[in-house]
Amino acid sequence: MSKVLLVTGGAGFIGANFVLYWLGKYPQDRVVVLDALTYAGNLDNLAAVKDSDAMTFVHGDICDQPLVEALIRDQKVDTLVHFAAESHVDRSITGPDAFIETNVIGTHSLLKAAKKVWLDEEANVEGHRFHHVSTDEVYGTLGPEDPAFREDTPYAPNSPYSASKAASDHLVRAYHHTYGLNVTTSNCSNNYGPFHFPEKLIPLVITNILFDRALPIYGDGKQIRDWLYVEDHARGIDLILEKGRIDETYNIGGINEWANIDIVKLICGLMNEAFANDSGLAERFPEASAAQAGNAESLITYVKDRPGHDRRYAIDPTKANNELGYQPAETFETGIRRTLQWYLENESWWRAVMDGSYRQWIEKQYG
Ligand SMILES: NC(=O)c1ccc[n+]([C@@H]2O[C@H](COP(=O)([O-])OP(=O)(O)OC[C@H]3O[C@@H](n4cnc5c(N)ncnc54)[C@H](O)[C@@H]3O)[C@@H](O)[C@H]2O)c1
Repeated sequence: MSKVLLVTGGAGFIGANFVLYWLGKYPQDRVVVLDALTYAGNLDNLAAVKDSDAMTFVHGDICDQPLVEALIRDQKVDTLVHFAAESHVDRSITGPDAFIETNVIGTHSLLKAAKKVWLDEEANVEGHRFHHVSTDEVYGTLGPEDPAFREDTPYAPNSPYSASKAASDHLVRAYHHTYGLNVTTSNCSNNYGPFHFPEKLIPLVITNILFDRALPIYGDGKQIRDWLYVEDHARGIDLILEKGRIDETYNIGGINEWANIDIVKLICGLMNEAFANDSGLAERFPEASAAQAGNAESLITYVKDRPGHDRRYAIDPTKANNELGYQPAETFETGIRRTLQWYLENESWWRAVMDGSYRQWIEKQYG
């Protein structure tokens, strides 16, 4: 049976990748994207489906409960996939209010709208689903020898971002236990891939190399993150919608732990290689002198550590593997090469993103 999805935050990095994945795999379904187009939202991310009858874009805020109710009701939405969030930890340290507003109040507003239309008005729309997209950061930080995060690892969020996501996870759970809303939650590790906003580590390193800018490394650079190609996240959510049990949480990850400094060095090596193999790159990016000289690592610059910086995240995906048959399709080797290639081929995308307020922000941060 075909579905009608309401995808919040569908113009952001993961949300847009999810929409493209979904309409590619299920062309008979309809997707309504609700996005406030904050600095992180970008309609260009949805360019491939913008003229499709299967996708409707609505510019609006998840905190606008009447709007969300009207969308669920009028568009006959049966599945809500909730990505919309303030997502950058650094911004949550300097300005936490927006994180509470969108991630906590906004999620609650969506839950209230879904409950009203699906449970109160329609007397329990069968098969409705509220899927909440969350992060592994809610579990806090791990020591080098600690076992990876499981679904029953106690919550211990350390940043305003992860605390706001943890609060939203609890609200989602409560709306099932109190009102009977059909909910599922996924907690995923760090994503990478196309359309990743250039304030985040991997695209920041790629674009800074192209501009010959410093590659800022927090502290000793030995913080460990568990990286997953973004399409593999979409695949995990797809499996949860298909086979996941109501009121369950699934950790999605690819068993792929990397220290930040090692990722940066890997990208430097791949960029050196790309410039060595393609003389056209030097013409297109004349500023990238370090990569042209085969020496992008010379741009690495250690900076003061982020306050409260978590040391290590790692996901144990056993439950998703066993219950849903989840396996990432991309290895890190293939995924990082695809990503780098995408950034080299989509210069107009990231140049457009880097204009305006983002440019001012990044120049203030990194000179
Ligand atoms: N990026 C990661 O590595 C990662 C990992 C695990 C989980 N997550 C979670 O996945 C989700 C998506 O992350 P992302 O990296 O794509 O984020 P993003 O910052 O790239 O995109 C967020 C999107 O939400 C929209 N938005 C923000 N506030 C809104 C509001 N009030 N109303 C409507 N739309 C609003 C933005 O315009 C943007 O399009 C988030 O919930 C995040 O917590 C991210």
